[in-house]
Amino acid sequence: MADGIAIADSVAALRGHVAAWRALGLSVALVPTMGALHAGHAALVRLAAARADRVIVSVFVNPTQFAPNEDFSRYPRTFDADCARAAEAGAHVVFAPAVEEIYPPGFSTTVSLEGPAAAGLEDRFRPTHFAGVATVCAKLFIAAGADIAVFGEKDWQQLQVVTRMAADLGLPLAIVPGETIREDDGLALSSRNRYLSDTERAAAPALAAALRACAAAIRAGRPVDAAVEEARQAVTQAGFVLDYLEARHPATLAPVADGSGPIRLLVAARLGATRLIDNIPV
Ligand code: PAF
Repeated sequence: MADGIAIADSVAALRGHVAAWRALGLSVALVPTMGALHAGHAALVRLAAARADRVIVSVFVNPTQFAPNEDFSRYPRTFDADCARAAEAGAHVVFAPAVEEIYPPGFSTTVSLEGPAAAGLEDRFRPTHFAGVATVCAKLFIAAGADIAVFGEKDWQQLQVVTRMAADLGLPLAIVPGETIREDDGLALSSRNRYLSDTERAAAPALAAALRACAAAIRAGRPVDAAVEEARQAVTQAGFVLDYLEARHPATLAPVADGSGPIRLLVAARLGATRLIDNIPV
């Protein structure tokens, strides 16, 4: 127990909590996180608490979704603050397994993905990422046995990948999206924002601003390709190194030919050593 919230460090302990809740007829929500909880995570926990009687927040920095050159070892770990934040937002249990609990010796199974996981967005720059995400999410879903799992829209491709996986595998839970929470200047909240220097932080809102301008231009009738190209230039001129900025179908993430159907704009770009992602609807 920490900060008034129970901590389960094993699947058996987590299932004990869930079994007790189920015996009382209570519904259960899971909010999967890698810790470093911020106001965006708190909003997901509040959404979960509004939809279910009991809320589990998992805190697990999942090694399999990081490539060797990525920030696994320096990913922020703020466990005590995470427990306090989860409790304050309405969670009942923090599930915080060790790596060996999720990946015991001999672990050899990975969820294999196509569709939105192979859209040429995050997967183009992080080719092993979604297999790691999907595998750990499948394990978390099975461990928790929750009725719903809440995922932030900020990781839009992840949300589509997990939604597709849950449908394809017939997993008995609903994936519930939670809207992106932003700073006053438009920067989407992210655990990685803390890596930004003061100068980078001042430049960072240009990412969301470029998406907003692009969406407005498309809504006003500008051809999608031209609007997207202008947004790419705006991001680059603001000092970012662009990985991608694309207009895609919101669910399949297939490229869109024109502005006639639903469109999601998605961007990933680096400011110094920090990689930021964002997305908005048109
Ligand atoms: O979005 C995240 O924090 C992670 O990708 C998730 C869903 C917790 C899986 O490790």
